Amino acid sequence: RLLIIDFGSQVTQLIARRLRELKVYCEIHPFNTVDEAFLADFAPRAVIFSGGPASVIDAGSPRPPEKVFDLGVPILGICYGQQVMMEMLGGKVERGHGTAEFGRAYVTPGAQKLDLLEGWFATDREQVWMSHGDHVSRIAPGFEVFGTSPNAPFAITADTARHFYAVQFHPEVHHTPNGSKLYENFVRLAGFEGDWTMSTYREEAVAAIREQVGDKHVICALSGGVDSSVAAALIHEAVGDQLTCVFVDHGLLRKNEAQEVVAMFRDHMNLQVIHADETELFLGQLEGQSDPETKRKIIGKLFIDVFQKYADQIDGVEFLAQGTLYPDVIESVSFSGGPSVTIKSHHNVGGLPEKMGLKLVEPLRELFKDEVRALGRELGLPPSFIGRHPFPGPGLAIRCPGEITREKLDILREADAVYIDQIRKHGLYDEIWQAYAAILPVRTVGVMGDGRTYDFACALRAVTSVDGMTADYYPFTHEFLGETATRIINEVKGINRVTYDITSKPPGTIEWE
Ligand code: XMP
Repeated sequence: RLLIIDFGSQVTQLIARRLRELKVYCEIHPFNTVDEAFLADFAPRAVIFSGGPASVIDAGSPRPPEKVFDLGVPILGICYGQQVMMEMLGGKVERGHGTAEFGRAYVTPGAQKLDLLEGWFATDREQVWMSHGDHVSRIAPGFEVFGTSPNAPFAITADTARHFYAVQFHPEVHHTPNGSKLYENFVRLAGFEGDWTMSTYREEAVAAIREQVGDKHVICALSGGVDSSVAAALIHEAVGDQLTCVFVDHGLLRKNEAQEVVAMFRDHMNLQVIHADETELFLGQLEGQSDPETKRKIIGKLFIDVFQKYADQIDGVEFLAQGTLYPDVIESVSFSGGPSVTIKSHHNVGGLPEKMGLKLVEPLRELFKDEVRALGRELGLPPSFIGRHPFPGPGLAIRCPGEITREKLDILREADAVYIDQIRKHGLYDEIWQAYAAILPVRTVGVMGDGRTYDFACALRAVTSVDGMTADYYPFTHEFLGETATRIINEVKGINRVTYDITSKPPGTIEWE
């Protein structure tokens, strides 16, 4: 296995991601937990030093143990990792003075060949992504230069005898387009076969959860979405009945959703699931409320109260499981504290752990969405669950602009079901990021048979997106739209008009509220 020593870069996880793509097993450990004993125990076959925000010039800056250089295994230092390597092995690092580089840069190869660079330089230069203030001003004894950039004369250096490699740029990021090639070469020269798979990840994750949780109890807010479902299935595999899932049913779910989720996890997968049916409570408190933020806040607060009420009934709970993914981790780090406007108060259980004195179990923290899906398949979750469109925490409340009534919710559930059925029948479900029907707070006049109708209008929404941050409307054919409108009006009592929302995000948002 490969050890990544983390010096605090925001993109360390991307190194792990690149290695997983190469089917190499790796673990990330923060520099302050890696000492000599750890190294002896871990016995890495290769080591990568990540980047990081510190300056090696400053006293007390993070270091790996000296011993790492005596392991006799290949080491790759990236950015801060390069500098720390140079400094510790007898080179010199200096501060800026016009040599800082941020963003795109081009590296040109040196005269000599290097195994790390094999097949990398497609032309006489390669685009790389730099992000450094300090720079190496003298390389360590035994090192030679194999690539330079205008502001980094030592962009790529190596001690070929010891297989120590040091690069100033970040090969793991998207803006170093051929960066994966360097990792591929690195793991190949370190002797990795590339035979690690999601099933190995599953085993390792299960072992890690067992170690963390011990014989204590874990609770999890199961929503039926991909992330919480995969997290629950994985934790269940690790600790069995030490996991209890609470499925908070706020009465704002889609047609048959509560029954399907509960049946799937309780009966099919044998998880302990508490179906907290609190429809009365939620709908009661929402009565007469039509302001979007007020609705969201009511639901968010009640959700936490309800979850806590059910969790309090379980003895000895010490852990709260969450399906946090890696993109959530990056976002919360890089945007924390920055000025931002609240567009919508997203509801989540973020504040719960402190409030309830619980520790977190987050087994998906290192994964990206597509990897979570692969893990879900590996764990035997049905494809229909894994490929599901996202569904917001406040549920149908935010698809029912204005006041929420049971009548409107019932009509909405039926219309949404017909719409999604149409999308599935036409084989479009997987092309669309998210699709749903919203019921509008207006009644319109229509004519059906020989009679006048005065029913609700609904809006259909379908968007394409990669991350939900920006989105475009899905270009259905007129035939599809016409057929769907006809079906909804014929099959759903209470709707006599169908519109299609063609707003992108921005300026619109994906949900109506
Ligand atoms: P908007 O409407 O902000 O939605 O463009 C972006 C994505 O987030 C989902 N969404 C939520 N998810 N809690 C959630 O868990 C929420 O409160 C919430 N509000 C919106 C929305 O469905 C879309 O995928």
